[in-house]
Amino acid sequence: MCGIVSYTGHSQAAPILLDGLSKLEYRGYDSAGLAVRNGENKTRIVKAKGRLKALAEKTDNGHALAGTCGIGHTRWATHGEPSETNAHPHTSDNGNVVGVHNGIIENYQELKNKLLRKGYEFYSSTDTEVAVKLIDYYYKKYEHTPVDAINHAMVRIRGSYALAIMFQDYPGEIYVARKDSPMIIGVENGDCYVASDVPAILKYTRNVYYIGNLEMARLANGTVTFYNLDGDEIEKKPTQIKWDAEAAEKAGYEHFMLKEIHEQPKAVQDTLNSVLKDGAIDLSSVGLTEEELQSFSQVYIVACGSAYHVGVACQYVLEDLAQLPVRVDLASEFRYRSMPLDPNGLVIVISQSGETADSLAALRLAKKKGLKTLGIVNVVGSSIAREADNVFYTLAGPEIAVATTKAYSTQLIAGYCLAVQFALVRGCISKGRYQDLISQLQCLPEQIQKILDDKERIQWFAAKQANARDVFFIGRGLDYAISLEGSLKMKEISYIHSEAYAAGELKHGTISLIEDGTLVIGVLTQSELYEKTISNMVECKSRGAYLMGLTTYGNYNIEDTASFTVYVPKTEECFATSLAVIPLQLMGYYVSVAKGLDVDKPRNLAKSVTVE
Ligand code: M6R
Repeated sequence: MCGIVSYTGHSQAAPILLDGLSKLEYRGYDSAGLAVRNGENKTRIVKAKGRLKALAEKTDNGHALAGTCGIGHTRWATHGEPSETNAHPHTSDNGNVVGVHNGIIENYQELKNKLLRKGYEFYSSTDTEVAVKLIDYYYKKYEHTPVDAINHAMVRIRGSYALAIMFQDYPGEIYVARKDSPMIIGVENGDCYVASDVPAILKYTRNVYYIGNLEMARLANGTVTFYNLDGDEIEKKPTQIKWDAEAAEKAGYEHFMLKEIHEQPKAVQDTLNSVLKDGAIDLSSVGLTEEELQSFSQVYIVACGSAYHVGVACQYVLEDLAQLPVRVDLASEFRYRSMPLDPNGLVIVISQSGETADSLAALRLAKKKGLKTLGIVNVVGSSIAREADNVFYTLAGPEIAVATTKAYSTQLIAGYCLAVQFALVRGCISKGRYQDLISQLQCLPEQIQKILDDKERIQWFAAKQANARDVFFIGRGLDYAISLEGSLKMKEISYIHSEAYAAGELKHGTISLIEDGTLVIGVLTQSELYEKTISNMVECKSRGAYLMGLTTYGNYNIEDTASFTVYVPKTEECFATSLAVIPLQLMGYYVSVAKGLDVDKPRNLAKSVTVE
């Protein structure tokens, strides 16, 4: 939510800032702004409402703003409507302090009242303007020392922030601070970069520093100096980013989402290979020992959105294979429920970004309660990856489209590998069955590819659904978990109302919404539940529904019931989610394209939800 890019060095800043912001637009896109300064000159600020394109046009792609030091921002509105006035950067009354911010300042009203009493005036409705003016207030109070000004403000601010600040008295310098909002710093050939996420600066550097919670940094003359909250200097070592820059480009695809859908065979393969050694699953890189796997008596899975849907699928798989009690919770609920937690429990937090505010808070709560924690995370060095006791990195590479596809698929793989290994070490499956399950996992990339090779049928069908008003996804057991993700993919990018229902639950209320022509998609990958779900589909058909079936090759009698059917290859039934989700991702994508919508940047959404 909100993207920050900053640069100070030898090149012109504005084009670099715009380029970086274009890679972060998925974090927010209701307005954007730049502040650039040229040596001793006063800082120039340009802002525009709407997509980044408007800012690029206003600044002649950055060429109209001369200067080698600058900060940029793309906004996802929290306090104050999307407008040019509320867009960042924000500035103090005399232009002495200029800043951009990602996060939420919870006590902004209290701080604003204090500043109003001190004579400050406010032009915007944002909490960021309050933060900038608070820093200005302390800057004047503490002898114009940026680090002291910022740390005094940090002590007063409650909430989350990643801040990048320029001070008029310090040309060529940028100061940053963070608490619970992501921020990385890159250094290359005497140039310094700041970004909310790696893709923004990947083109320029792979050497990044992770700035910790409640830490600050000063970027000047090609070096970075880190400070703790007391203003004391601290040492940090850079990390090498392994993602390649091309991975964050569209590579000829019309949308990032389509590219990422097609990257799934490789992403799944890479993630699998990261824990497969000599035909067995080796969790040593994750740091979980066999003794630990044997010792857990309960698993809690906590996540948001699609990552939560992965959790729901993995619950079925873990329970089925490892006979382990599993409880799945939405992170935003988990963190506010005072439920007794099993001290021998393992808390698994699933997150692509590793920065989702509710998931991070749930992780911290679990740690505070003394439970062992494991993050399944895609972004290396993100907050959840750093704070969890153990990390299973998914190797999806940068995911840019707001609607997740390849990260979801790799999270499933991580969940399966854990389940299979749990099952073996806890004596729930034989060595033979273990080998068989691993062989089935190894077939998944090729099977996914096969589904992608046959995507035209889904494209044709999806194009006909562009005018649908409601879509229902129904299934039982794992097929319900698949339905949850299919439904989210549909609604988040096509804006068509859709719901996922456990097929058996439909007749307890929701079936009253079925009308003539309502599209109902039945998911049927679980043989034991196949006939039961067919019956539920027939119940919908009797009330006028138009049926689509999604099942495995061989179940051809579904054509007696459904008007349109998509088949996926057969796999071990507990891994069926990995295959059945692919046509549903394509459905969501092609419906959105048919409606002419902005697939990669759906309205009101942001990729990384760093506010609760
Ligand atoms: O970064 P995370 O995996 O923690 O994000 C969680 C959700 O916000 C995310 O899965 C969201 O639901 C997807 N963008 C939906 O496609």
